[in-house]
Amino acid sequence: MNRNKDIQRIRRRLEKAEKVAVLTGAGISAESGVPTFRGQDGIWKQYRTTDLATPRAFERNPWLVWEFYNWRRQLIANVQPNPAHYALVTLEKQKPGFILVTQNVDGLHTRAGSKNVLEIHGCLWEVRCTRCHTLSRNEKIELPDLPTCERCGGLLRPHVVWFGESLDYQLLNAAIEAAQSCDVMLVVGTSAVVQPAASLALQAKAAGAFVAEINLERTVHSGHLDVTLVGPAGKLLPQMVQVVSTQ
Ligand code: OAD
Repeated sequence: MNRNKDIQRIRRRLEKAEKVAVLTGAGISAESGVPTFRGQDGIWKQYRTTDLATPRAFERNPWLVWEFYNWRRQLIANVQPNPAHYALVTLEKQKPGFILVTQNVDGLHTRAGSKNVLEIHGCLWEVRCTRCHTLSRNEKIELPDLPTCERCGGLLRPHVVWFGESLDYQLLNAAIEAAQSCDVMLVVGTSAVVQPAASLALQAKAAGAFVAEINLERTVHSGHLDVTLVGPAGKLLPQMVQVVSTQ
């Protein structure tokens, strides 16, 4: 009952909003079959970040790191965006001032059809040369054990942000700007523990936005936001955007 009221409340806010920002995390892709990082079956419960997701890990054992990323590329290539991704595509069509900030590197938002997306943790389908720094798109699933740069022969790495690395300055600034200028922010499927992404919701709130969180469980941010809807994003997000009228 309360949940229905909360959904109505969010819908009304979305209806009135000119600028809508959305922050997503691994939870939005969970219903597509992509494992999240934390929680019971989370990736970081089974593997250590220090073995797979730091620059030092890559220096020490690039084979192991590439094995992990090739496994994820394979897994993600075989799944589809879910109703939560599509709901955000619908919302973007309704709101010209829409911006989607994602921590996900799976590319599912773009595959679903979202356009204005900031992939602040990078993208699994892009690779970067460790020698000449050339960035390129690479959607081949069968990469060699150690892929090399076509231009200079240097070792390629996944174009994702690892622990201990900084986010792209321009992307982060654009995300902060979106958080600080939006009327409504939806925070979907993130545990809100990895900075600086986690602070975007609080920045939006501090700047006066209405901030609603959608998650399977309450998070460290829940008490500080306007609404926390507990439940699966694939079920809840479509209910929020279905009948939002265009401005
Ligand atoms: P986490 O795995 O930390 O959190 C996923 C969140 O999604 C949890 O709070 C779950 O309760 C929630 N969740 C799971 N299924 C859901 C569903 N169907 N509907 C709604 N919510 C659901 O993932 P992130 O917060 O994205 O960084 O993690 C942040 C960063 O930590 C990632 O980008 C990655 C990771 O290490 C890097 O790789 C740099």
